Amino acid sequence: MASKLVFAVNGERFELAEVDPSTTLLEFVRTQTRFRGPKLGCGEGGCGACVVLLSTYHPVNEQVKEFSISSCLTLLCSINFCSVTTSEGLGNSEDGFHPIHQRFAGFHASQCGFCTPGMCMSLFSALTNADKTSRPEPPGGFSKITKGEAEKAIAGNLCRCTGYRPIVDGIKMQRFVDYLSVSGSGVYKENDLYDKYIDLKGIPQLSVIRRDRGNLIMAQRSQFASDVATILLAAGSTICLQTASERLEANILFETYRAAPRPLGNAIAYVNSAFLAHVTSYNISGDLVIHNIHLAFGAYGSEHAVRARKVENFLVGKSVTASVLLGAIKLLKETIIPNEHTPHSKYRSSLAIAFLFKFFQPLVKDLSLPEKNIQMSNSSAAATIETSNGCISGFADDLPHKASNVKQLDQVNNPDLILSSEQTVEFCKDYHPVGDPIQKTGAEFQASGEAIYVDDIPSPKYCLYGAFVYSRRPLAHIKGIKFKSTSSPQKAFTFIGADDIPKGGQNVGLSGTFGTEYLFAHSLTECAGQPLGIVIAETQRHASMAAKQADVQYCTENLEPPILSVEDAVRRSSFFKVPPFLCPQKVGDLSKGMAEADHKILSAEVKLGSQYYFYMETQTALAIPDEDNCILVYSSTQCPEIAQGTIAKCLGIPAHNVRVITRRVGGGFGGKGPRSVPVATACALAAFRLRRPVRMYLDRKTDMIMTGGRHPMHINYSVGFKSDGKITALHVDILVNAGITIDVSGIIPHNMVSALKKYNWGALSFDIKLCKTNFSTKSAMRGPGELQGSFIAESVIEHVASFLSMDANSVRKKNLHTYDSLMLFYEGSAGDAPEYTLPAMIDELASSASYFDRLEIIRHFNSCNKWRKRGISLVPVVYQVVLRPTPGKVSVLTDGSIVVEVGGIEIGQGLWTKVKQMTAFALGQLWVDGSQNLLDRVRIIQADTLSLVQGGLTAGSTTSEASCEAVRLSCNVLVDRLKSLKQSLEDKIGSISWDTLISQANMQSVNLSASTYWVPEYASTSYLNFGAAISEVEVDVLTGATIILRTDLIYDCGQSLNPAVDLGQIEGAFVQGIGFFMCEEHLENSDGLVISDGTWTYKIPTVDTIPRQFNVKLLNSGHHEKRVLSSKASGEPPLVLASSIHSATREAIIAARMEFSSATGPDSSTSFRLEVPATMPVVKELCGLDNVEKYLENLSVFQ
Ligand code: FES
Ligand code: FES
Repeated sequence: MASKLVFAVNGERFELAEVDPSTTLLEFVRTQTRFRGPKLGCGEGGCGACVVLLSTYHPVNEQVKEFSISSCLTLLCSINFCSVTTSEGLGNSEDGFHPIHQRFAGFHASQCGFCTPGMCMSLFSALTNADKTSRPEPPGGFSKITKGEAEKAIAGNLCRCTGYRPIVDGIKMQRFVDYLSVSGSGVYKENDLYDKYIDLKGIPQLSVIRRDRGNLIMAQRSQFASDVATILLAAGSTICLQTASERLEANILFETYRAAPRPLGNAIAYVNSAFLAHVTSYNISGDLVIHNIHLAFGAYGSEHAVRARKVENFLVGKSVTASVLLGAIKLLKETIIPNEHTPHSKYRSSLAIAFLFKFFQPLVKDLSLPEKNIQMSNSSAAATIETSNGCISGFADDLPHKASNVKQLDQVNNPDLILSSEQTVEFCKDYHPVGDPIQKTGAEFQASGEAIYVDDIPSPKYCLYGAFVYSRRPLAHIKGIKFKSTSSPQKAFTFIGADDIPKGGQNVGLSGTFGTEYLFAHSLTECAGQPLGIVIAETQRHASMAAKQADVQYCTENLEPPILSVEDAVRRSSFFKVPPFLCPQKVGDLSKGMAEADHKILSAEVKLGSQYYFYMETQTALAIPDEDNCILVYSSTQCPEIAQGTIAKCLGIPAHNVRVITRRVGGGFGGKGPRSVPVATACALAAFRLRRPVRMYLDRKTDMIMTGGRHPMHINYSVGFKSDGKITALHVDILVNAGITIDVSGIIPHNMVSALKKYNWGALSFDIKLCKTNFSTKSAMRGPGELQGSFIAESVIEHVASFLSMDANSVRKKNLHTYDSLMLFYEGSAGDAPEYTLPAMIDELASSASYFDRLEIIRHFNSCNKWRKRGISLVPVVYQVVLRPTPGKVSVLTDGSIVVEVGGIEIGQGLWTKVKQMTAFALGQLWVDGSQNLLDRVRIIQADTLSLVQGGLTAGSTTSEASCEAVRLSCNVLVDRLKSLKQSLEDKIGSISWDTLISQANMQSVNLSASTYWVPEYASTSYLNFGAAISEVEVDVLTGATIILRTDLIYDCGQSLNPAVDLGQIEGAFVQGIGFFMCEEHLENSDGLVISDGTWTYKIPTVDTIPRQFNVKLLNSGHHEKRVLSSKASGEPPLVLASSIHSATREAIIAARMEFSSATGPDSSTSFRLEVPATMPVVKELCGLDNVEKYLENLSVFQ
């Protein structure tokens, strides 16, 4: 670098003489400044956690340009003379929070908070730019940004907790500019560090095209699936780009198309295309004649975008008719052939055809579709549906009336994709402030970026950094590990492996309830992704790079082949044992039930894949050696106690030498349970060995490969049923892929059967095997087993409905439990009869969501729309949760402030907020008139395994209520101690305040600290949760895209401890369920190595994939004797309700298959299985890959 690099961060000037050119802006801000707002979520431009605002000044025209950038992709050297603003720079606890921070906090739009600073910056950038436009000035306090624009501003930001709805609500009332917030400029995922980088922004000729999707250099160099390259190819030009879908001149048409997993495009396309046609006026027969045409296709599995020249030549000079189009399509099929091994290759070819068809559809008079000719029978606006393919359809007879009853139905057709929602809550004031929707504790700090996560703790002096080297083979001897020299070899320090376990210690990475597992493979690796050791270096980047370049020598001599399927596991009897106390019980007599059946379906199959946690903060720990063989470990974990025990075992020291501290976790969902322990242990081992602090923050790819996820499984069922849909017997065989170690897989059979029991099957039996395979260990993920069990139940119902040609929802209703059958299936957990709220809830939901009216409207819609089909479904949930013993400790300090410790960990679920409310309520009881508001006096502090013991595991949806109960009991002890003192003081001096009482208690040596270990009564350790959801979807038959038009969800939360927090849990869980059912494709290669290993290949829901209309009602089902202040759990059960979207999609596909029954085969309309996830290729394949050709062939016959 010739001269100094000068820039500012939040107004602080930096002048650097020497900079490693590979340093990113994110790394600099996080390690060399005091700011921590930008977070590292992916390091590859795919999550938005690191977004900051960059301001540049142009000295000639004196203009300041401001835009958001992904600081993880931006090289520090590229920001010379720029100013950077992070979320702390907008506002903070010292100078006051920015209104954006306040909105995020006030709208409960921050749960774990890890995504929040990036979200705030994306929105701020959009607001700033919108306000610079010449749009009319808005009223005071408002911005010029539109709602639709604000939604698009965060379309590139991922949030795994909230489900986006509260974020969208928080950013409404403002307006914005049309570009995605996460900029694509910067460095792409590199596999090495270089000593020279060229900033293309410095070469104006190379940066003419910059604000669109894609990158020409990467398209050229890395066969990147660039949209821009395809567009340029079609345009036949290298300079002038036109806005998509614009007619350039009267007779020149230009259109672009792309099909990608996310509607707003924050995903690589399956296929993109751009068409430029010069047409002459209509010939005598009324057709348009093509004078010239360019047809460009890209991203379909070719190295570069291509022109379909054969097709172009064929079309030139022709008038476009159905038969000409059919001819063009036949030629196109010969042209668009994806390379070998391209996933979904048939789907991609069919998309290319679909795009060509879409382009010509409006130009060909033969293709006037039936829907276009339908006249509205009523001019009522409410009775009109304008589909997005331009079809205006009307309703027959009384449908207009029904449509007008359906609130906001037409909103879904809004091209701006604005979300709407409604939340209905019945408050309970009995235990104020418990039950109030108070703001989440620390939400503003989270938004401003000041909240401290493990990686935000400043690195101690002499800190080193570690990165895992993992196996890429499923079963092999490890012969050695070599490290390539990097550009900065001196920065790689050493390698820590199994040989470094200290004397007296054990090679253990997890010591849990069900068993132990190795920390590092020693001489034999047993799965791809198994840790072999950690590379230690002077920076996290150098450690990760060195680990990536590790060359592991494998040898498979004398080894059996690995077990890479559950069927293999069965053949080789490779199973884990389920402890007897967790073995679920059968219900009824299966043979008798089968004998009663009129019909039987035998040996039907369902397969379910895995799901990755995708917490925004990856696994991380910081270990600091202390005197006398002690060690302090900061860990992002849901189970500090297990981490403590495991570390002690590994190091061969007593547990009291190990202090594990967890303040907050940037998203857990089960993944920070047992799977966090090997990370903390490896870190502790390295620190112990090297006698220096060691920190690890896994890169996203390593995290995705090593951490496992939800259990995949193969299911086989046989069901007997009556002709009216009543099921009499169900038997299920399930092979669960548990991976190489047991982790907590022992709970899966119990959880699956519990969820399966949601319907009255008459008799239920099962055989569930936990298969030990050479895949990475699978662990508990939100709704572990319950999600799959519930889905199997829905699959059986749908199958029976198909068999009987009945509506699936009426079969559901027929098999819903009565209270008596509920008692039989859920012995001991069903509660009293009034607690069974599900049937009433379903009726209420069906009525409030106009279910039956919409069913008819959808039928009509489907009858007059050929290429778009809708479906609707109503799914219930019955979900059993278990309460576990939990500790709590409440201490009052001399100034009257209150400090609380609980066993539970704040993972974003609002545990601290509920505990705070409970403390204020329980201690406030000393004043029966409620005059002392203690809420602001309470602080919940980090979990510390040497301060509060027996903390257990934060899991299973019940930790918040259990922690609340432990705290309530501790408070009761304090209340008992203070009561008589208060009385005597009041007798002497009249009414007194909290402060006076505490200072007097201190003077009289009252013990102001109390702790409890709450153990729930045996008879009430488990209870049932109920809810239901109705979802409506629209499927694009041409592309397979599914839009979730609307979801209405009702959930019995008892007397909610905090309705705002519970709403957040419900919506967030539901959207995570959408990910599982609709878009998260978890793929492995033939060695079992995860290949969906980053944000580019694994697609969790974004703001544009959630229901366009999302209404949630919290039912307050009143007093429950045995619940904690009558509350119920909310963290997991609503997740399974997302299967309503899958079921609705199936209904839409049925409609498509009926429409194109000649393409899908006779009688096949309803007898198909819809895979999970129901991605675009899956849906399109079921709708018919060749329905365009079939349709044109039919038309051509009549020409
Ligand atoms: S960390 Fe930069 S976009 Fe994910
Ligand atoms: S709050 Fe968005 S990821 Fe947790």
